[in-house]
Amino acid sequence: MSPFLEDRFLCIGHRGASGHAPENTLKAFALALEQGADALEFDVHCAEDALVVIHDDDLARTTSGRGSVAATRLEALRSLDAGDGERIPLLEEVLDLVAGRVPLNIELKGPGTGAAVVDLLRRRGEAPEGVLLSAFDHDELAAARAAAPEYPRGALFGRLRGDPVRACRAVDAVTAHLALRTVRPELLGTLADAGLPVLVYTVNDPKQALALRDAGVRGVFTDYPDRVRAALGG
Ligand code: G3P
Ligand code: MG
Repeated sequence: MSPFLEDRFLCIGHRGASGHAPENTLKAFALALEQGADALEFDVHCAEDALVVIHDDDLARTTSGRGSVAATRLEALRSLDAGDGERIPLLEEVLDLVAGRVPLNIELKGPGTGAAVVDLLRRRGEAPEGVLLSAFDHDELAAARAAAPEYPRGALFGRLRGDPVRACRAVDAVTAHLALRTVRPELLGTLADAGLPVLVYTVNDPKQALALRDAGVRGVFTDYPDRVRAALGG
């Protein structure tokens, strides 16, 4: 069974241990593992025939480059500094680094990522239990389902419009990922009644993480896995 579906509260490194190391880099992922994160979350875009791990569509905020990820050649992307001399990782490099030690929440950011990510996962023989795909763009989740239904999906929500249970059902999502500002007891009750575990982003206050755990939330995405892990008691 996917660890995301087990009845255990998860401390998930958001873009790795991104409060301590450059986000979405191998350094941030290795540090999150050292700090005891139960799982890692990161963001993926298509770049030529590859999949690269970066949050924004644009390079300026997190790298030494400029311009859009989609319009930049892979070789040029890989020559950029993503912080502390780290490169923008390939999805394959993250899979190699983690090597199944913890489950991964792969967030599909750009167009085409749904089909491309599951294609790579299948080619590598990655176990469906080891990953959870998520996206704000639920069409990417539908594309992932169409190409490889065995890889589980979580529906990401920003501002809540409409019925989240219906939205999860539409793509057979097994988890609902909510922005902290939208979490309300009634909403948690509705999702619990529907059998949908909830993951909340981004929770950097350990006390808030504990309160969410006590409210029945399945896990939190945090930039500081060390702090949340310490609050949870090691
Ligand atoms: O997947 C949870 C969270 O990462 C979603 O928002 O913008 O940090 O990718 P963002
Ligand atoms: Mg993300």
